[in-house]
Amino acid sequence: MNLFVSGGAGFIGSNLVNEILKYRKIKKIVIYDNFSSGKKWFLKKSKKIKIIKADLKDEKKLNSAIKKTDLVYHFAANPDIAAAVKNPDIDFVEGTILLRNVLEAMRKNKIKKIIFASGSGVYGDKKKKSLVEDKTITNPISTYGASKLYCENLIASYSNLVGIAGISFRFANVSGDNCTHGVCYDFVRKLFKNKNKINILGNGKQSKSYLHVSDVVSALIKAKNLKFSNHQVYNLSTRDFISVNEILTLALKAFKIKKIEKKYTGGSRGWRGDVPIVRINDNKFRKFGWYNKNSSKETIIKTIKFLITNKKNYRF
Ligand SMILES: NC(=O)c1ccc[n+]([C@@H]2O[C@H](COP(=O)([O-])OP(=O)(O)OC[C@H]3O[C@@H](n4cnc5c(N)ncnc54)[C@H](O)[C@@H]3O)[C@@H](O)[C@H]2O)c1
Repeated sequence: MNLFVSGGAGFIGSNLVNEILKYRKIKKIVIYDNFSSGKKWFLKKSKKIKIIKADLKDEKKLNSAIKKTDLVYHFAANPDIAAAVKNPDIDFVEGTILLRNVLEAMRKNKIKKIIFASGSGVYGDKKKKSLVEDKTITNPISTYGASKLYCENLIASYSNLVGIAGISFRFANVSGDNCTHGVCYDFVRKLFKNKNKINILGNGKQSKSYLHVSDVVSALIKAKNLKFSNHQVYNLSTRDFISVNEILTLALKAFKIKKIEKKYTGGSRGWRGDVPIVRINDNKFRKFGWYNKNSSKETIIKTIKFLITNKKNYRF
């Protein structure tokens, strides 16, 4: 089986590649990445891997790189939800268009299967309501969420029009080895700079599920063996949650900091477009036998440890 992984040098993509290359059935993995946030040091060395440094907006390069692929994993997108506050076009250009280009390249090359990294942002702000794929109405409150929802619908349309079948995962927050953004990354970066004072986005009470990237990878690998028909959507989460304040306490413990001045930016949201409370129901995917091995708290502890251990690589 030959894989094409867009954004394969990024956080989730690199974890998938490093794990899936161990499978004998996987013969070749093409990583297509412009390295805007991806890193070479995230990736294991393997003869199975071919890295193409290019942008998905370059359709000519994309068309030639994707040839002879059996399955596409599509991760490339703007990872920074808050970036749209200053640049509202970013998720259209670095999200929607990228997926459109991938689908067109698939159509031209008769590639029939795609697994897409969507996100719980498609639901919008539903407070403590449990989010269920086929029941909860989707009302994104960020261009990031809107782009993910459009992308899901584009895959559904392509499945109907040209027979490309897809699976979209609506992930909770993902954390773990190789992460380059998110609350753990933010706190560790700030604490290396200043151990006396820290800025916290929002009021610290935002509470969400944090899924360890190894658990995401096990779901992504399981998904490749499922029967692909039209377009299927699955939530993916832990069954617990943790607040930003609790995450800060874990970070301070890891740094052995007893006293620090905390400065909150205020408001219930970390930034405009942030969904402060997220409760995801992922029973639908669990029916295939998948479960998360790490709780939200374990995920946070492991992520902080990884970031501190790899301080030099991250250039903190
Ligand atoms: N990390 C999370 O918590 C989370 C949660 C839900 C969904 N997702 C989605 O999962 C996917 C992967 O997220 P991640 O956290 O690994 O982010 P990431 O930024 O680490 O990975 C994205 C990769 O895509 C590459 N890329 C970006 N724009 C590109 C372009 N125009 N052409 C080619 N390559 C490009 C980047 O260099 C990077 O390697 C994204 O689509 C993200 O929206 C992530």
